[in-house]
Amino acid sequence: MLLYLRGTVEAVARLWPPLLAAAVVAAAAAAPDPLAARANGSNNTSGCYTRLFAFGDSLTDTGNFISYAAAPGPVARLPYGETFFHRPTGRWSDGRLIVDFIVERLGTPYWPPYLAGKTAEDFRYGANFAVGSATALSQDFFKKRHLNVDQITPYSLAVQIGWFQKLLAVLASTDNAEREEIMATSLFLVGEIGANDYIHPIFQNKTLGWIKPVVPLVVASIVSSLAALIQLGARTLYVPGVFPLGCTPRVLFLFRGSAPGDYDPATGCLRWLDDLVVLHNALLKVKLAELRRAHPGVSVTYVDYSGEVLGVVTSPRRHGFDERTVLDACCGGGGPHNANFTVHCTEPGAVQCADPARYVSWDGLHMTEAVYRIMARGILDGPFAAPPIMCGCKKTASL
Ligand SMILES: *[C@@H]1O[C@H](CO)[C@@H](O)[C@H](O)[C@H]1NC(C)=O
Ligand SMILES: *[C@@H]1O[C@H](CO)[C@@H](O)[C@H](O)[C@H]1NC(C)=O
Ligand SMILES: *[C@@H]1O[C@H](CO)[C@@H](O)[C@H](O)[C@H]1NC(C)=O
Ligand SMILES: *[C@@H]1O[C@H](CO)[C@@H](O)[C@H](O)[C@H]1NC(C)=O
Ligand SMILES: *[C@@H]1O[C@H](CO)[C@@H](O)[C@H](O)[C@H]1NC(C)=O
Repeated sequence: MLLYLRGTVEAVARLWPPLLAAAVVAAAAAAPDPLAARANGSNNTSGCYTRLFAFGDSLTDTGNFISYAAAPGPVARLPYGETFFHRPTGRWSDGRLIVDFIVERLGTPYWPPYLAGKTAEDFRYGANFAVGSATALSQDFFKKRHLNVDQITPYSLAVQIGWFQKLLAVLASTDNAEREEIMATSLFLVGEIGANDYIHPIFQNKTLGWIKPVVPLVVASIVSSLAALIQLGARTLYVPGVFPLGCTPRVLFLFRGSAPGDYDPATGCLRWLDDLVVLHNALLKVKLAELRRAHPGVSVTYVDYSGEVLGVVTSPRRHGFDERTVLDACCGGGGPHNANFTVHCTEPGAVQCADPARYVSWDGLHMTEAVYRIMARGILDGPFAAPPIMCGCKKTASL
């Protein structure tokens, strides 16, 4: 959400660039088999996808935010990117994101973020429309409800869907059959999105009573974007839920004075916030089931990011993480949970851990590459396990 503000309130906001990442994915048992859907959709029995299109917030943004922001702030500096790319790329992590692990499995090059692409050739394998700080609801929604929107990008989910429509017209200008073929043989990753719709208000002192009624609106907005993609011919969609916001170090820092009873004894996370996430994800699953019934032949798979992150937080050692710092930021401003957001990771005075691979949280809001790798499992262990996944691409990934 927010990137650079001075002073307390502003500092809070800047912490929260969009959230993107979240937890791992668990495929819903009721989902139709994506492989079957794709084969039927394209009538192409060779069994491969042609493109991947991704939408979302900072959990998925691979460079859109830094390519338009006049002052992108900490994400544009090391140690962001230190583990994998060895330079800042606009990813809110020490290395790769979930979407990067998917791209690697597909065997395509890491595609440029949408806002940095110039020609149709740049989008040969799809496009990533995700933008840090993005919300599912429009920026205007929050403006009308008197939130400060300085830290909320105008590029909400609906705007990203609009970008996709424009790109689709470029990829298949007037040929309807060609367009249908592209839609039917492409993978769509829609989310994680929605975390910022809750985080921005939380960091602006909104109460649970204010936030809870927003949940159905957030879910409705996600579902209407999915319906728009299906209307255009999408056949294979992955829809991650929100990750456990009550376990994020900056939130734990913000509410550090909470009563002992506010914390879940099993995790140490803030219960009321994790309950909000449960509510969001449960409603999302109900609406995805409705969407499946309305569109037989379309594969809509829920991805359980929340379950994956909670699994790590409850059994850190089993997953290779340090149990003593499981709720602490690897790189942060010191203080409780190393998440004092008056000082951001990359700024003078920030405290950085020696080994991000032992940490769940990278900067207090976003996760480490090590966690994103786990979160990606729910997607990759599904249909992606069966090659060939991608048509007509070379198998070497390069940035
Ligand atoms: C696939 O084949 C079926 C039956 O042959 C046909 O009805 C359907 O329109 C085809 N779909 C596409 C996308 O070409
Ligand atoms: C939130 O509450 C804090 C502490 O009471 C206050 O300093 C700050 O100005 C408030 N922020 C907003 C956006 O109202
Ligand atoms: C695809 O076609 C196969 C064989 O006709 C069928 O069994 C399967 O249910 C279809 N899948 C979907 C998602 O429609
Ligand atoms: C957070 O950092 C600021 C600036 O360094 C400092 O003044 C403040 O006391 C810190 N708060 C906590 C709770 O550590
Ligand atoms: C069907 O899949 C093959 C397999 O790899 C690919 O080369 C071909 O372009 C696909 N056909 C269409 C119409 O997309």
